[in-house]
Amino acid sequence: MHAPIHLQGKVAIVTGASRGIGEAIARAYAQAGAKVVLSARKMEGLEKVATSIRDSGSDATAITCHGGDPAQIQALVQQAIERYGKVDVLVNNAATNPHFGPMLSIEWPAFDKTFEVNVRGYFAAAKAVAEHLIAREAPGAIINISSILGLTAGPLQGAYAMTKAAVISMTKTLAVELGPNQIRCNAIAPGFVQTKFSAALVESDEIRGMILNKTPLQRIGQPDDISGLALYLASDAANFVTGAVFTADGGLTAG
Ligand SMILES: NC(=O)c1ccc[n+]([C@@H]2O[C@H](COP(=O)([O-])OP(=O)(O)OC[C@H]3O[C@@H](n4cnc5c(N)ncnc54)[C@H](OP(=O)(O)O)[C@@H]3O)[C@@H](O)[C@H]2O)c1
Repeated sequence: MHAPIHLQGKVAIVTGASRGIGEAIARAYAQAGAKVVLSARKMEGLEKVATSIRDSGSDATAITCHGGDPAQIQALVQQAIERYGKVDVLVNNAATNPHFGPMLSIEWPAFDKTFEVNVRGYFAAAKAVAEHLIAREAPGAIINISSILGLTAGPLQGAYAMTKAAVISMTKTLAVELGPNQIRCNAIAPGFVQTKFSAALVESDEIRGMILNKTPLQRIGQPDDISGLALYLASDAANFVTGAVFTADGGLTAG
């Protein structure tokens, strides 16, 4: 019989948890029994989500952290360990996309920022959590939120798409190198999901129409369309799953 899908006894860090996909994942994890550490740059939205999780009877802690600063990321993981004694699950979700336009027109500061947050930040968090798990000789799960733009061309979002492809590469190498330690690493590649991040795209009638036209399920995703998959991947039900990339895109990339 397969292991049930719950996170009782586990501690999870979810970055970018003050809204959107990260918030949905943090809520799903808490509902499934995990103690959750939520991070983002601004405390305001973060604390609102953490308070509402606590109000529903689960344990949640909000910690501010800039995804572009490896020292802050190291401190986030350390504070989570101090608060709950350990970390079992990491969801790398906080990402940025400061440039919208042809790839050749990007300025270096925007290019560098995209890589700092989306690639170096994800790696810094994965490294800190993996080193903690190895020291504890404990199994664990790392879930990296990539994008379908990491799998296909990303016109007008070229640098962002490059970072999302790098996240997939990172996921596979970490899965291979950390497999012997029973640390699993998987990626989720969402399609278009209604959040602040995607608002400019999905709220434009023209772009929305184009997306829906190419999406077999004929709708834009919602954050909870991603959280169930993230819950499965963090749980013991996924104990033999590592190094994989799961699209959750309403079928958009299927054909
Ligand atoms: N929405 C989509 O259509 C879509 C599609 C494919 C992939 N994704 C991926 O899904 C993930 C979540 O996106 P979303 O749509 O849920 O975005 P969102 O609603 O805008 O939420 C982003 C979260 O990340 C935090 N954040 C942003 N920049 C940060 C930084 N530099 N350091 C730390 N935290 C930061 C934000 O809080 P603060 O502003 O307070 O920091 C917020 O909590 C991202 O990795 C994105 O690439 C989204």
